[in-house]
Amino acid sequence: MKQLIHKLFCRGKLSRDEIVYLLGRLDGETRQELYRLAHRKRSEKYGDKVYMRGLIEFSSFCKQDCLYCGLRAGNKAAERYRLKPAEILDCCREGYDLGYRTFVLQSGEDAWYTEEILVRLVRDIKAEFPDAAITLSIGERDERTYRSLFDAGADRFLLRHETASRNLYQSLHPTMSFDNRRKCLSVLQSIGYQIGAGFMVGLPGQTLEDLADDLLYLQDLHPDMIGIGPFIPHSRTPLGGAEAGTIDDTLAMVALARLMVPDALIPATTALGSLDASGREKALKVGANVVMPNLSPLAVRKKYALYNNKICTGDESAACRHCLELRINSAGFSVDMGRGDSLKSLRMK
Ligand code: 5AD
Ligand code: FES
Repeated sequence: MKQLIHKLFCRGKLSRDEIVYLLGRLDGETRQELYRLAHRKRSEKYGDKVYMRGLIEFSSFCKQDCLYCGLRAGNKAAERYRLKPAEILDCCREGYDLGYRTFVLQSGEDAWYTEEILVRLVRDIKAEFPDAAITLSIGERDERTYRSLFDAGADRFLLRHETASRNLYQSLHPTMSFDNRRKCLSVLQSIGYQIGAGFMVGLPGQTLEDLADDLLYLQDLHPDMIGIGPFIPHSRTPLGGAEAGTIDDTLAMVALARLMVPDALIPATTALGSLDASGREKALKVGANVVMPNLSPLAVRKKYALYNNKICTGDESAACRHCLELRINSAGFSVDMGRGDSLKSLRMK
């Protein structure tokens, strides 16, 4: 077992069978070895820095109907909101003053924000804050829209692949297509965005083979960013009664992602922090190197409910920034407020 982990550390590669074998037999000792080597790899690549991104959840409307998500169109009990472009700019101003140099604009798939509205918004943010990076996380759009947003100044795009299993993907996403998801990711990458993919751990019906395929897909895609979080049920969804993913399984996947895609930026996700009070600190110690504190206006925070018991819904942006800085420092890392571009993108410049 330890041999396999060392092989992965040195070569960055394992076969599908080897990954499945490893995942099926992780015990206390091998887990610690995996964590130790993932931490070492992260230190080699990124030192002790943790990059901060200001997250603005600007619309909770969504036309899709993913079985796990609290924002799904079928959840008629969800309270919906939409921030106007001027309000989004205000969040960026507040974030810029707090020191953020990356803004992550995230929403459900909401057609109210047309290509034109989004392009103007991106241009306005870039005009006011030319030294900040803009990350979009707005779901699937056509290639033309992706291109005009890139031309307007968007730098990065997050679109989790959610699961690399075609069957599981189709059963969880009745309104979407597995092939189109993957096509969007490769289109975004070919346009020149720094892209982020990623998946949930502990989805009902997910197997060790599926998780191995998630890692192999990521290795093949080589995204700049990799978001990995536990599945957490939301009571007003068809999966409301299902078990959540576990901290240990999620941490193991974070560590493996660090070893298989060493130069990726990997966030310690809010979902991990929601499942376990020190989940994000634990992730930072096993390979994660990004955190995304919330910059959304307090009035709308609770309404962006992807899952139950989401953290940070009652904290002002300044408090959230401060809270995370303390957590990062006490976990033994240092905050980097710069743009924090991926090593891959810096090499290509
Ligand atoms: N539990 C955990 N993560 C979720 N997401 C959506 N719903 C849930 C849930 N119930 C994740 C998806 C999406 C990201 C924004 O949040 O992976 O891509
Ligand atoms: Fe948001 Fe602690 S990270 S309040």
